[in-house]
Amino acid sequence: MLEGLAPWARQEAQEAGAEVGAERADGLRVRGPVEALLSLRLAAAVYLRLGFAVPRPRALLGDEHLRRLTAAVRAVAGGTPFQGFRFAAAGADSAVFRRLADELRDATGLPHRPDDGELVLRVRPDPDGSGWEVLVRLTPRPLSARSWRVCNRAGGLNATLAAAMIRLAGVGPGDRFLNLMCGSGTLLVERALAGPAASLTGVDHDADALLCAEANLEAAGVAARCRLLRADVRETGLSPGGFDVIVADLPWGDAVGSHADNLDVHPAVLDVADRLGAPGVRLALLTHELRLLERVLRSQRRWRVDLDVQVAHGGHHPRLVVLRRA
Ligand SMILES: C[S@@+](CC[C@H](N)C(=O)[O-])C[C@H]1O[C@@H](n2cnc3c(N)ncnc32)[C@H](O)[C@@H]1O
Repeated sequence: MLEGLAPWARQEAQEAGAEVGAERADGLRVRGPVEALLSLRLAAAVYLRLGFAVPRPRALLGDEHLRRLTAAVRAVAGGTPFQGFRFAAAGADSAVFRRLADELRDATGLPHRPDDGELVLRVRPDPDGSGWEVLVRLTPRPLSARSWRVCNRAGGLNATLAAAMIRLAGVGPGDRFLNLMCGSGTLLVERALAGPAASLTGVDHDADALLCAEANLEAAGVAARCRLLRADVRETGLSPGGFDVIVADLPWGDAVGSHADNLDVHPAVLDVADRLGAPGVRLALLTHELRLLERVLRSQRRWRVDLDVQVAHGGHHPRLVVLRRA
């Protein structure tokens, strides 16, 4: 789970029929049907958790613990084409982990691929402070690596975060949804997959970004429901008052755009959304320009902040705000 998103991840898991237990810094403990868990859109990855009352990883080499580990790896690998396994742990290249790897390889027949093994075993101290835990990832790739992602671009949004943004902005079948600065289309795809909508529109001024978005929409099977428009967001020609939900993952000024451009773009997006938003419009914005966002929000009176969440995204800590007209 991405840091900051626990309340919504919990809600989604409960709606999927899972029993949700303790919350940890980077995850939730859940119990439920595997298929339902693997369909969660706000979960970055799903792991099978094994707790071991041992003082250090060396003790995992004991017979009983090895049997549990082997059974877990076999259960996870059964039916899924993993090419190998690897450990994600402090000291993963130590003699203890090499021995563990040999034992697991011999018992399961799965090769140990320390660099690119798809079956990931995270070994770490139990956050409850009682021994160690091993987390076995259930899928070869994290859930945030969506199968619809056939085209990626610098600054492309993490799909798990996009799904969270869509949930926070609200999803209704009658929504006329607009994604300003849609880039590779992450928010548009995630909104289309979240349920029916009256209309789904993405705008970007970059032709290559739109080609990329088109490819992703096609791969997701939602292209026919979406409209892409090449335009500067300040001059779209779209009907005033025509949208119920507007979202934008603004340029962060590092991989995409520049801080100088952002000084214009951030306030402009509020103006544009004010013009294009229907009565009751919900506006969700994500940006890493934290001080600029503060300043822009403070210097206007048309929008009030309904929700303000700081999230973690690839080493950044952007803010996700949901605004309503004051
Ligand atoms: C951070 S990226 C969006 C990434 C997108 N969410 C994705 O997942 O690929 C910002 C996008 O804003 C677009 N952009 C920047 N200024 C714009 C403007 N004035 N009008 C339209 N698009 C703009 C850029 O071309 C870029 O694709």
